[in-house]
Amino acid sequence: MLFMRCLIVWSIATGLTAKPCQLEITGDDMMRFNKKELSVDSSCKQVTLTLKHVGKLPKTAMGHNWVLSKTADKNAIISAGITAGLANGYLAKGDKRIIAATGLIGGGEQTTVTFSTANLQIDQKYLFFCSFPGHYGVMVGDFLFKASATGKVKQPATKKQ
Ligand code: CO
Repeated sequence: MLFMRCLIVWSIATGLTAKPCQLEITGDDMMRFNKKELSVDSSCKQVTLTLKHVGKLPKTAMGHNWVLSKTADKNAIISAGITAGLANGYLAKGDKRIIAATGLIGGGEQTTVTFSTANLQIDQKYLFFCSFPGHYGVMVGDFLFKASATGKVKQPATKKQ
């Protein structure tokens, strides 16, 4: 019985702390992300996102990145990114409106970014998008910072037997 309880506690602990705070998304040669929505539980202190480019075209022709911002900031980030150009991954350096962003990658590559959720708000609207010129119209989706499904994580009560 004790062994079983340890297993259960272990699986709850790893389930809550690790995987829900890790996200994965792919981009392809057809200018598409494979997801239209990403969400993390607000219990995540940090989020790690991995972007995989599953196509073959080089980043100069079909570059993809993953940028997170408030919905209201998207257009300004994109305008500044176009000015910054390919050499800067189509993002302006030091743009404070960018909450998180990966580098720009081409076919066969992948990239990961880890960011803090300290400044995210549950009731705020966020978008993720690719800032490559012409991609942001279709390579865009909602990012949800969800109210914690679990509430405060309590340690299971230990009954004396
Ligand atoms: Co793209």
